[in-house]
Amino acid sequence: MLLRSMLFIPGDSEKKLAKADDIAADALILDLEDSVVEARKDEGRALTAAFLKSHVPSARKTKLFVRINPLGTDAPMRDLAAVMAGAPDGIVLPKATGPAAVQMLTQQLEEHELRAGLKHATVIFAISGETAAGVLATASYGQSVLPRLAGLTWGPWDLAVDLGAAGNTDETGAFDFTYKLAQSLTLLAAKAAGVQAIDTPHTDFKDEKKLLAACKDLRRQGWNGKLAIHPAQVAVIHEGFKPSAEEVAHAQQVIKAFESPGSGVASLDGVMLDLPHLKQAQRTVELHCTG
Ligand code: COA
Ligand code: MG
Repeated sequence: MLLRSMLFIPGDSEKKLAKADDIAADALILDLEDSVVEARKDEGRALTAAFLKSHVPSARKTKLFVRINPLGTDAPMRDLAAVMAGAPDGIVLPKATGPAAVQMLTQQLEEHELRAGLKHATVIFAISGETAAGVLATASYGQSVLPRLAGLTWGPWDLAVDLGAAGNTDETGAFDFTYKLAQSLTLLAAKAAGVQAIDTPHTDFKDEKKLLAACKDLRRQGWNGKLAIHPAQVAVIHEGFKPSAEEVAHAQQVIKAFESPGSGVASLDGVMLDLPHLKQAQRTVELHCTG
């Protein structure tokens, strides 16, 4: 499942849901959590369920995820009861406390799928770094058997609230160390678990230049994609997660340098290349072909 861009749409917004068909994101996240006020949760559930039912899996152009409310109250159970018959492709679990929470959600999903006669296994996308406990548990995703886990992300704003922090950036606008740690753990854990590493959204949605630069830098680091909050961010994210023409040309040269059989090393422009360079080059070409 290619997930470069995942766009949030508040699940109670008829107006924004009506725009969904024109948005070429890899996935849409119909949100029932933080973008929906308590008094409108039921309205959000009903609208989201209706949206899913009007977009049956075989006719979907984009994957449809639903962000439920955090486990621990009856709200997420009510969310699942409302939306599972609509066969979402995945569920986003906010404020995830660790692998046990993903396993608990897996059981719930299995029951709903059986009841609704669904033909596919709903995947889970966990927002791991959104609470102090969640950040500390992030490393353990890589050591757990979680066949439904499709990706991990993190959330610096909820984390700041959980820490009682007045802010999460320094005077230059860069995330403080604690948040960089949460971000880095998310990347490491996702890779250890063999799932997609998706960065938190860029909330300054008018600043497309900064978003593009951020996406290029994230891809260089190994991230697979970035969450989006505004439709205009989707194309920018796709552009940022695409290797540049120079990178592809260089990767092709690296692959060529290994074409003569029998040696595990090669040289290109006076630089030694061995297996990791070849693997990196192959990945760049693969990304270029799929993106
Ligand atoms: N999904 C679908 N349509 C969206 C959208 C979204 N996430 N964000 C904006 N739009 C629509 C708007 O309704 C607007 O439609 P219109 O031209 O018919 O009025 C159009 O795109 C342009 O939007 P714009 O005026 O630039 O932004 P806005 O001020 O209306 O909305 C936000 C800004 C941030 C409130 C909005 O983008 C949003 O709701 N984002 C998702 C927030 C969310 O889910 N957060 C939770 C996870 S962090
Ligand atoms: Mg939140």
